Amino acid sequence: MGAMAFSARVLVPAVLAVLILLGGGYALYHEYTVASIAQSNLASTTAAEDALQATLARTTQDRNSLQDALTAEQNKNQTFEKQISQISGTVGQLDQLSKTDPQLLAKYSKVYFLNENYTPASIADIDSKYLYEPTRTVQTLAPIQGHLYAMLDAARASGVDMLVASGYRSFGTQAALKSEYKVTYGAGTANSFSADQGYSEHQLGTAFDLTTTKVGGTFTGFEKTSTYTWLEANAYQYGFILSYPKGNSYYEYEPWHWRYVGIDLATKLHVEGQNFYDLD
Ligand code: DAL
Ligand code: ZN
Repeated sequence: MGAMAFSARVLVPAVLAVLILLGGGYALYHEYTVASIAQSNLASTTAAEDALQATLARTTQDRNSLQDALTAEQNKNQTFEKQISQISGTVGQLDQLSKTDPQLLAKYSKVYFLNENYTPASIADIDSKYLYEPTRTVQTLAPIQGHLYAMLDAARASGVDMLVASGYRSFGTQAALKSEYKVTYGAGTANSFSADQGYSEHQLGTAFDLTTTKVGGTFTGFEKTSTYTWLEANAYQYGFILSYPKGNSYYEYEPWHWRYVGIDLATKLHVEGQNFYDLD
């Protein structure tokens, strides 16, 4: 046997075996690599999917919050619109009243004279359930009856006892009342708490003396009642103001005497801490 023949018989299969082993190893390695790449790709795809899901959930949440905020804003706008139309309705009504009757917003007490023929355009009886003396007739200027009732109802709903002791008084009624006071108390004292005929806000039908079941018609101690505290805090919302606060230049302090001037002006006076008779 020659050396060549031996090498061919031994080496060729050996080389072939080595080559097969190497090929198999590579195939296995390749398989493994492909599998791990696939696995890592799968893992990153799942992570990306999770991240997408989270983003989607956040976006949905954001969209829902935005929707809620939008709805809340729309509701707020509707409430504002309603309030504005109510206020402009009231202002419109007062504006109309003051155009048809310029006397209504003028100052009377010892300032302007309301002539003896003056009577409000329309007067209405106040429901007896609001009266201190339910069998008497007490009247109001008709267009403000609703504002008066709204205030009385709101006070009652808050557990506050509030009754109307006096409302519209004609020139003649005021004259009779003032004469009576002059006889009883003397002219000096009567002038400190009662207007002469033609100068009383009661002749307008927009002023009311308010009291409680306990305080009654003398009004003694009215300023110490929760009714007065409630009025001081809330009356402006219904268009009412206190005509004669402490230290006013016209009459004694009259915590029970409230006059309708409209929600707009009453609110302005309340916010600015001003008195009606101190305005120009
Ligand atoms: N008591 C108020 C001043 C009036 O008589 O009008
Ligand atoms: Zn009064």
